[in-house]
Amino acid sequence: MAIVTFRSFAAFGLGCDSGLVIIRWEVDTRIAAVDALEVLDSRGNPTVEAQVTLRSGSRGDALVPSGASTGQHEALELRDGDPHRYLGKGVRKAVTHIRVEIADRLVGMQAADQAALDKALVELDGTPNKARLGANAILAVSLAAAKSVAAANGRSLFRSLGGEQAVTLPVPMLNILNGGAHTGWQTTDVQEFMVMPLGAPTFSEGLRWGVEIYHALGVVLKRNGYTVLVGDEGGYAPALKANAEAVELILEAIEQAGYQAGQQVGLALDPAASEFYSAGVYRLRREGRELDAHRMVEYWVSWVKQYPIVSLEDGLAQDDWEGWKVLSSELGDRIQLVGDDLLVTNPARVRIAITERACNALLVKVNQIGTLSEAIEAVKLCREVGWATVASHRSGETEDSTIADLAVGLSMPQIKAGAPARSDRVAKYNRLLRIERELGVAAKYAGWAALKQSGRTI
Ligand code: PGA
Ligand code: ZN
Repeated sequence: MAIVTFRSFAAFGLGCDSGLVIIRWEVDTRIAAVDALEVLDSRGNPTVEAQVTLRSGSRGDALVPSGASTGQHEALELRDGDPHRYLGKGVRKAVTHIRVEIADRLVGMQAADQAALDKALVELDGTPNKARLGANAILAVSLAAAKSVAAANGRSLFRSLGGEQAVTLPVPMLNILNGGAHTGWQTTDVQEFMVMPLGAPTFSEGLRWGVEIYHALGVVLKRNGYTVLVGDEGGYAPALKANAEAVELILEAIEQAGYQAGQQVGLALDPAASEFYSAGVYRLRREGRELDAHRMVEYWVSWVKQYPIVSLEDGLAQDDWEGWKVLSSELGDRIQLVGDDLLVTNPARVRIAITERACNALLVKVNQIGTLSEAIEAVKLCREVGWATVASHRSGETEDSTIADLAVGLSMPQIKAGAPARSDRVAKYNRLLRIERELGVAAKYAGWAALKQSGRTI
């Protein structure tokens, strides 16, 4: 089979498969314009939207999300700090950086050369944590550029990033009960209680299981006299008496919905422990307990013994490396231990964690690092050592569903996108349903294989 590539500077171009000869019509992806706008996220806070327009006329738009339980080692989200606008949270400075400096640097570059484009952005910023231009400004442009290239080639973003290999739909981690900072500390110390429909045959079936469990949980909560109001990520936010009560109620909901916990559906937790840690002490306010790292590890070990938990994210704080090593030696061969605040999608921290054997999976939040290329590098590092990766939203989200395409395009076997409620969350799941349909018979569901390190001991 011959591959003939035409390079054209025409205003349009499409790949076509003519049987024996694949004709690739590569369009010109030189950037004509870069623009930006201050818009709002799901919490009513300003965020950055960027548009990259190519000379061919194709365009990509991207909106950046924002965290509440933000890791200390994340790239910097630039806010105006002007108390007269949006309580200091405006992003006009970041928007201006895109419209002036970034546009000036990128116009004329080939958007298809993502690595060169991201390198130019990093160099233009010139700081180690993207503090000058703002990681929100840089990421919006980095993602918008990737989307403009996909549009120019008439392809979906997942296809544009992953080619023919991109056929695996991730297992969703549905955060059906919210706590911690995402509920103003009104519910539990643990931030996220998630269900994973690992035993489903397809993504769409798995999503349906998760939705049914979510609704069953609403019924269980009402029956127990709790509210069914929701937190930042769409999960219920009842004022429970203890953290473990959340797990008990969710197990009841799984059963009520007609599924088997452990066999078909696994539990995943994100305590976001950095949020309740200080000076060597983990404070579980809900339970009136103060634990050192060893006791905190024992706490999780007892939960794993008792409940069908398959994944634990940020079970310890972001700089408690010694504690993480103990946690890994205790649980690393039984469940998935995901580094979020610990790793902040930063290849340098991922390398340390691999060497130190601190965890065995990476949470991928592109806005923690600020460019698509660096996030891809982190994912590749994990793949080399057999770690699983989890594409992730932030608690402050938008209608932008790019992470769904990133999950499939970069072959990440899991995705964390909140409860199946509120459009900022559901947009990601709906996008995955569309990708599943686009893939047709080629679509695969990651299923149990998503948990690479899990001994499936539940
Ligand atoms: P955040 O929380 O987006 O508020 O940081 C999500 C998480 O901790 O995974
Ligand atoms: Zn987290």
